[in-house]
Parts: sequence; C-alpha cells; structure tokens
Amino acid sequence: MKRKIVSIVGARPNFIKIAPISLQLKGKCVHKILHTGQHYDDDMSKVFFKELRIPKPDINLNVGSGSDSEVIAKMLIGIDRFLTQERPDFVIVYGDTNSTLAGALASAKQNIPIAHIEAGARCGNKEVPEEINRIIVDHISKLCLAPTKECLQNLKSENVSNSFFTGDLMIDAIRWLKEDPKILSKYKLRSKEYVYASFHRAYNTDDSKRLKTIFSATNNLGFKVVIPMHPRTQKEFKKLGLNEVNFNNIIFLKPISYFQSLTLIKNAKLVISDSGGIQKESYWFKIPCFNVRNETEHPELVKSGWNILVKPEQIKSSVEEFIKKQTQYKKQIRFFGDGNAASTISRILFKYI
Ligand code: UD1
Repeated sequence: MKRKIVSIVGARPNFIKIAPISLQLKGKCVHKILHTGQHYDDDMSKVFFKELRIPKPDINLNVGSGSDSEVIAKMLIGIDRFLTQERPDFVIVYGDTNSTLAGALASAKQNIPIAHIEAGARCGNKEVPEEINRIIVDHISKLCLAPTKECLQNLKSENVSNSFFTGDLMIDAIRWLKEDPKILSKYKLRSKEYVYASFHRAYNTDDSKRLKTIFSATNNLGFKVVIPMHPRTQKEFKKLGLNEVNFNNIIFLKPISYFQSLTLIKNAKLVISDSGGIQKESYWFKIPCFNVRNETEHPELVKSGWNILVKPEQIKSSVEEFIKKQTQYKKQIRFFGDGNAASTISRILFKYI
C-alpha cells in the first residue's frame, strides 16, 4: 500500500519550497497538499502554483487576515479536521511561517510524525515572530532537515535528535528559473544599473519612523530602485499618508511572480531587503544584499561578507561606501548544498516512514 504524506503550506516562501518536493514525491506516495490560505491574493499565491507547476491543493482553508493568534487558531481547526480525515503517515511543514507552526502543532496533537524542512535556522531573537515558530516546530518534529551545517549545529546544541543536513530546497527551485527579460524592458531597467528592494517585516513596516526612513533612504541612493510592494507594506505606506509620486526614483510594483523576482535580483546592481528568501537568492546570484534587520537566521551569509546588516538610517551611507570602494567579494562557499535537497529529503523521509 502506498504511503500517504500531507504537506502543509500557506505563504509565499512555503510555495517555493514545496515545488521541488512535490515533483520528487510524485509516484512515490500519495501526496496531499493543504493550503491554509494565509496568503490569499492571486499574486501572493496562485501565481506561484502556476509558475512552479505545483499541484492544486487538495483543500484550501481560506483563513485570510487577522491577528497572528486568530489566524493560527483558525488554521489549527481546519488542519485538525483534514488530518483526522486523511490519517497520513507523515506531515511535511516548510520554513517558519504561521502556517508552518499551525501545521506542526495540529500534527503533533494527533501524534502524526512531522518532517520540518529548513530546520535549525536561528537568529537568536525571540521577538522575531518567525524565530518562535522555528524553535517550537523543531522541538516537536520527528525529522529536522537542516539547510546548512550551521543550522544542523544549532539543532545539535539544542539536543534535537533525528536532524540531518540536506541542503536548501530554494537552490533546487532557483535552477528552474526561466528569466523574464520583459520585466526589465517594461520598466526601462538596464542590467546592473538599478537596485532591487523589498520590505515586509512587521518591525520595519509597523514602525512609522523606520518605514519612512527606509523609503526616503532608498529614494535618495542616486539609482533607480524597483520595489514590489507586499500588501502589509502597502497598507502601512498608505496609512502614513505617504504618496508614491513623492518618491521619484522608486518604481513601485504590485507583488511580482517568483521568476520575475529572480530575474530582477539576478540583474540588479545590489539588493536591499528584509526578506529571508531574498537574502539567500542574492547570495546565489552573487549580488550583494543590504539586509535591513538587526540579525539574521543565516549568519553564515553575514560572515561571508555578501550580506550586510544595516539599520534604516545606515542604508544610504553603507550603499555609498560600497559603491565608492567598489568592494570585491570573496569566493563563495556552498553553505546551502548543491541543489539536490529534494532527493536527499525524500531519501531520509522514506527511510523513516
Ligand atoms: C509571512 C511570513 C514571513 C514571510 C512572508 C512572505 C509569518 C509569521 N510570516 O509574512 O515569514 O517572509 O509571509 O511574504 O508567517 N495580506 C494580504 N494579502 C495576502 C497576504 C497577506 O493582503 O495575500 C495582508 C494581510 O492583511 C496580513 C498582512 O498582509 O495581515 C501580513 O500577512 P501575513 O501572512 O500575516 O504575514 P507576512 O507579512 O506576509
């Protein structure tokens, strides 16, 4: 009899990671997909399923917006019902989103073993919502699959058993890139002459002083800056009474697709972001990334010199110094494996089922 695995996803970064896994599991088991509905706009969800050819979810809980606890509570009820009905042999959860946490909690309560993909990442600050999710999920999972050796070491130092280094699924996914040059020509962007930026973390968007500083600093860099606006950022931007017409160097976009985002990163002069995924994608494309955060869950990137942590008020001076010095970057280390994470994960998973 074929084994049954349920994957639980709900937000953009989860979709990118499930894509290589769903392909890898095809034909090897019954693989069902539960979408919590945490990200529900078409350009935050549907476009990823289409572009990455992820099978249509078997169920969408459509939880929508609300406070973190409210949304997680709704997810728990829906996931619990689905798991009762399906009784899978394993549940896979991805990354560190609220959907990851809800998926793991509901599974643990039914004694269904959990495989946590992207386990062991730690930024060391429990005020970061994703950090709480990572710690809890790692400690209730049966299998912890670490994207880097440093993540594996974090798990070992917290005495988490059954942890393995697998490499990062995002490298598997990035290899599928079909560049979309139209996104450059549409906005008259020339390769290596513009900055790609994105901001969505609550501590940047929900603090009016920080958000204003971020936008005025990026507007004053002396380069064209292209920013796909996350719904959270858009909402706060409007709430502050900011107006796009007053930022003449910024090209404001709606959320863009995965391939469009990778195309823009790959061709940028540099990247400014607070995103967990974009900091890695910039590294893989050898584009320096100014990370508007106090800490990152991948300190390997900072140590390598390719990722520079900056406060909003340091964005302009750090970028200017980088341009002036024409900083040369060191050879890269393959912290995240070689792009075969999905097959490694599948091998480990079936050994444990
Ligand atoms: C979530 C993840 C974060 C990830 C990010 C990628 C958590 C704790 N955080 O943050 O790790 O980097 O996704 O995008 O899970 N909204 C819409 N339409 C949508 C989705 C969201 O309008 O399709 C609005 C909602 O009003 C919501 C707000 O954006 O309140 C924030 O969304 P939420 O999913 O809570 O967190 P993200 O900031 O997207």
